[in-house]
Formats: sequence, C-alpha cells, structure tokens
Amino acid sequence: MRGWRPATEEALYGPRGFYRRPEGPAGHFRTSVHASPLFAEAVARLLLLVDEALAHPAELAFVDLGAGRGELVGGVLKALPAEVASRARGYAVERAARPAGLDHRVEWLPEPPAGVTGLLFANEWLDNVPVDVAEVDA
Ligand SMILES: C[S@@+](CC[C@H](N)C(=O)[O-])C[C@H]1O[C@@H](n2cnc3c(N)ncnc32)[C@H](O)[C@@H]1O
Repeated sequence: MRGWRPATEEALYGPRGFYRRPEGPAGHFRTSVHASPLFAEAVARLLLLVDEALAHPAELAFVDLGAGRGELVGGVLKALPAEVASRARGYAVERAARPAGLDHRVEWLPEPPAGVTGLLFANEWLDNVPVDVAEVDA
C-alpha cells in the first residue's frame, strides 16, 4: 500500500483534486448545510447559547472547519439577531480557494484562527481527511 496516502491526498486536494473543483462539494452531493436554511438557523441558535455561556464577548467567533464554499458560515451570520451579528466574526477554514461573491464578513483561512473566542464547528469534515487505515507487510 506504499504511496496510497499521497495518492488519496492528491485526488482530494491536489491541484486537480475533487475538493478544488470550482463547483465545490455542493455540485456533487448535499449535506445538511445545503438541504435547508433550517440547519444554519439551528447552528446560529447554538452560537447564541455559546455567546451567553461566554458572557457576551466583545468579539464572538464562529469558525467553520472544512467550510466547503462558506455556505454555513454565511447562513449563520445571516441568521443572528442584529446585536449579536454586530459582534460576530465568521471564519471559514478551507483547503479550497475562497469562492467569488462570498459574504464580505467571512474571513477565509487555510488554518483555524488563533486566540479567538466563540464556537468551532465542523460539519462532515473528518470523512474527508486521508488516513492510513491499512498496511501491507511481508
Ligand atoms: C464533505 S465537505 C463538507 C463541506 C461543508 N462543511 C458541508 O457540510 O457541506 C469537506 C470539506 O472539508 C474540507 N477540508 C478537508 N480537510 C481540511 C483541512 N485540513 N482544512 C480545511 N478544510 C479541509 C474539504 O476541502 C471540503 O470542502
């Protein structure tokens, strides 16, 4: 199985990899993020609970790890009440490039931001992380 992991990494995230394609994951399959705005609204409610538990910090982060094309983070920011939205910062952490036309309030990053206060969220991320699960020996 030597070389298996690099091949998987290349197929998913290489320059011509599946997750780099311009149409994004939603061009091929739906997750709860794409199925309905109800999902972003539910996650926004969760963020409100976190805001309360953190005693309403001056800056409230919502970090979406493996953000696809930023659909969830954009939807969460949109679903927040105005007072919370004015303190909220949205971060999309993604290996693919930032899509055109994304809500300008969303910061697009290759790694999670350091030193922020808020909620780190990941939807359908771990099933896309290449992992060595098998080895062949003599
Ligand atoms: C199945 S898609 C899910 C997208 C979105 N979260 C949703 O639920 O619709 C997984 C995403 O995770 C991204 N991803 C995988 N590993 C990553 C990493 N180490 N850092 C950032 N993004 C990653 C992929 O590029 C892909 O867009």
